Amino acid sequence: MTKATQMISRHLKPAALAFLLTVPGVAHAKCDPGEQVVKFSLVTALQGHPKGEAALALAEQVNDQMDGRLCMEVYGSSTLYDDDAVFDALLAGDVQMAAPSASKFGAYSKELQLFDVPFVFDSALHVMEFLGTEASNKMLATVEDDGFAVLGFWSNGMYQISGTKPIRVPTDAQGLTFRVQSLSPAIQGLLDAMGAEGISMAFSKVYDALESGEVQGQYNTWSNIQTKGFYLHQAAISETNHGYLGYPVVTSQGFLESLDPETREEFIGIFNLVTHESNRFAFEINQARRQDILDDDGIIIQLSDDEKQSWRDALEPLVDAFRRDVNAELIDAAIEANAKADPF
Ligand code: LMR
Repeated sequence: MTKATQMISRHLKPAALAFLLTVPGVAHAKCDPGEQVVKFSLVTALQGHPKGEAALALAEQVNDQMDGRLCMEVYGSSTLYDDDAVFDALLAGDVQMAAPSASKFGAYSKELQLFDVPFVFDSALHVMEFLGTEASNKMLATVEDDGFAVLGFWSNGMYQISGTKPIRVPTDAQGLTFRVQSLSPAIQGLLDAMGAEGISMAFSKVYDALESGEVQGQYNTWSNIQTKGFYLHQAAISETNHGYLGYPVVTSQGFLESLDPETREEFIGIFNLVTHESNRFAFEINQARRQDILDDDGIIIQLSDDEKQSWRDALEPLVDAFRRDVNAELIDAAIEANAKADPF
């Protein structure tokens, strides 16, 4: 087991990191004078979450191996920025790293909305087979024109749908209002297929909106649903696995250029190692959070084959819409990579 593997696997259960200053949502070592501070802003939980654990592992490695030169501070649970504000903050140099969901890049890249299209990928492991292909590299590079640099891609997992009533087939959600990450055409298509309304809302507002009844439904991964308690105000969560949540990890070209070549290379090397290890554990972390929901008496609906097919049938036109309106080559490459992948 490598050190990075040990670091991440020990976090399958949420636990405080003894050596870090941990207050809710913030975890970082004390920076010394002369060290260049690298602030990493996240909207999710840190402990017990694929992205939070990856950021903590990265900070641990950077602060250990690059002590005296770089000092990484990790801010979780939207304590620094939400995903709307973080893009400008990156370009302004107020924060150096962020990993917003691919769905949040709409202002910079229509290509990244690939991940909003339902049922392109069978599982998060299938997505891993697509990453690293030429088509995927081109897709990630679409945000670079605006001054961002994508260091890599961190995985979370598949989306599950919940509501104030059990949702087995798309029309069961008719009349409900859902919180969504954005109103991209594919997400709007999903809402239309369900006969539901959507409100685009920051992640930090979702719990309150579910509690107050402002929205009656949402979809997200097990790790987001559990760590933020969304399931506490929902009748049941349906295991639809209808889409995928993953994160381009972004910095600014300005930040990368501010590092001398040796420091930059070392930093990127550490980042790549942590990325490789973190992505291997994202699935297990999500399954652990799914079990936590069951252990807390949350209700999970497993769909029958016919019910699963009804979701696929209702959402199939969204693939053609993306092919027609955004990028045919990209979606065809993704479908091909998914079909070829044999992650198990
Ligand atoms: C959401 O807003 O639901 C997600 O983008 C949160 C996250 O970063 O996983």
